[in-house]
Amino acid sequence: MEEQIDLSKVDVIIDRYRDKKGSLIKVLNDIQEEYFYLPEEALRKVAKGLDIPLSRIYGVATFYNAFSLHPRGRHLVHVCVGTTCYVRGSDGLLAAAKKDLGIDVGGISPDKQFSLATIHCLGCCSIAPVIKVDENAHGRMMEDKVPSVLRQYY
Ligand code: FES
Repeated sequence: MEEQIDLSKVDVIIDRYRDKKGSLIKVLNDIQEEYFYLPEEALRKVAKGLDIPLSRIYGVATFYNAFSLHPRGRHLVHVCVGTTCYVRGSDGLLAAAKKDLGIDVGGISPDKQFSLATIHCLGCCSIAPVIKVDENAHGRMMEDKVPSVLRQYY
């Protein structure tokens, strides 16, 4: 069941763009910055407030990878478990990330700052093993460095 969230900020965001045509992406971006994802109820408010079909809003929200329709933390941590990273110890990085964040893969840290996911090859095997936080790849990672890398994002 979706956690009850205060959507009052959505009204403020809608008002900000009410008379600006073609601003749907900016609206969705602002909502995601506020809630770290796009809550369904927020999208309904946008549809009503800006008189845009909900189907179009979902079309845009699902087209861009940057948008998430599911709750997640402020920062998205990907541990690469592709072959090259795996043979260079990514299982240890994953264990370190899980331990440091106190969550499993797919989880959100209690302070909502991080989500943890795995990925099969980030396309930068030459610097394996790699973890990626948001858009930043951290290569030649070592287990004991994981906490300090994550701390950079607080
Ligand atoms: S296998 Fe990890 S970057 Fe390619």
